[in-house]
Amino acid sequence: MLHVLLCGGSGTRLWPLSNRQTPKQLLPLFDGQSLLQLTWQRNGTFCDGVVAVVNEQQAEMVTKQLQEAGADNVQLMAEPVGRNTAAAIALSAFTADAETILLITPADHLIGTPDIYTDTISKAAELAAEGHLVTIGLQPAYPETGYGYIQYAGHDVVRFTEKPNAVTAEAMLKSGDYLWNSGIFCGKAGVLLQQLQQYAPEIYYAAAEAAEIWKRTGSIPLPAMEAIPSDSIDYAVLEKSSIVKVVPSAMQWSDVGGYEALAEALANHYRYSNNQAVFIESDPVNSMVIGKDKLVALVGVENVVVVNTPEALLILQKGKGQEIKQLHQWVKENR
Ligand code: GDD
Ligand code: MG
Repeated sequence: MLHVLLCGGSGTRLWPLSNRQTPKQLLPLFDGQSLLQLTWQRNGTFCDGVVAVVNEQQAEMVTKQLQEAGADNVQLMAEPVGRNTAAAIALSAFTADAETILLITPADHLIGTPDIYTDTISKAAELAAEGHLVTIGLQPAYPETGYGYIQYAGHDVVRFTEKPNAVTAEAMLKSGDYLWNSGIFCGKAGVLLQQLQQYAPEIYYAAAEAAEIWKRTGSIPLPAMEAIPSDSIDYAVLEKSSIVKVVPSAMQWSDVGGYEALAEALANHYRYSNNQAVFIESDPVNSMVIGKDKLVALVGVENVVVVNTPEALLILQKGKGQEIKQLHQWVKENR
């Protein structure tokens, strides 16, 4: 099995902790390890090699961190511009033999239950070997509209719906027939490419060309990348394909999609690893402080996140974390 690491995040929702050069997957938040490194470690046991598809600006750091974590057999595909996950996955699939199973994982997820993860992936690999595209599903916890939903029966997928509106998400959650799409999936390279050719031919052919250039020169020129239409694998293939299966999993999973999730992920991580945060202190009134250049003291405030970096000081009321995206946009335009 070949590990495809998707590493294109732009780091807007964890500003000022993360930014374009250092998105969340590269921050050494977990006992000095980054989400990227933890992701590689978790998958290194099943996989013979890694194809890291990364944003060009992060390429150097990704290479360094993978080396530090002990990864060998790393192929780096640096994208001069991101064209979303269907493009990144197509590029990686063109580098592999048709029969090779690709285990495709975002580089910025945190999984707290390694044993359950291992069982989940072995089941997924079995189904992938039979020629299916296999996605990992999770019990939904609340009506999130930023996720994909999988209506399922056993391993069969009745329907895949990416990013439903709030009313639909609520109904899906209530019905009990749906799982969240984790964004981790696997399938043979040849099967993935065949499905892309069938459902997203423009992406398929443009990515084929870009991958050819990469094979010859080791890089992808901007025009070749720009020629690939931008779409996610979820819309481009998973919603349309009839060969998708799902492995429901009880693993503890987070995509660390904002400061509230980061606070929870860190609390869980340190509960699991029984270690102390290096520069994170959680205080008893449900707050989190990140920043190391000076002591930050909280007196009489509750439920806040304080992030102290050389670039900025952020004081965030928990529950307002999704507004950081707009704040980051404002900072970019006005500072
Ligand atoms: N290399 C590369 N290039 N990676 C990319 C690109 C790109 O252009 N775009 C996104 N990625 C990476 C991101 O860094 C992230 O790790 C992963 O692919 C998923 O992309 P997101 O942009 O975070 O997707 P999403 O959150 O909207 O939705 C996906 O994830 C959800 C779970 O977190 C979907 O798969 C949903 O169905 C799913 O529920
Ligand atoms: Mg995401």
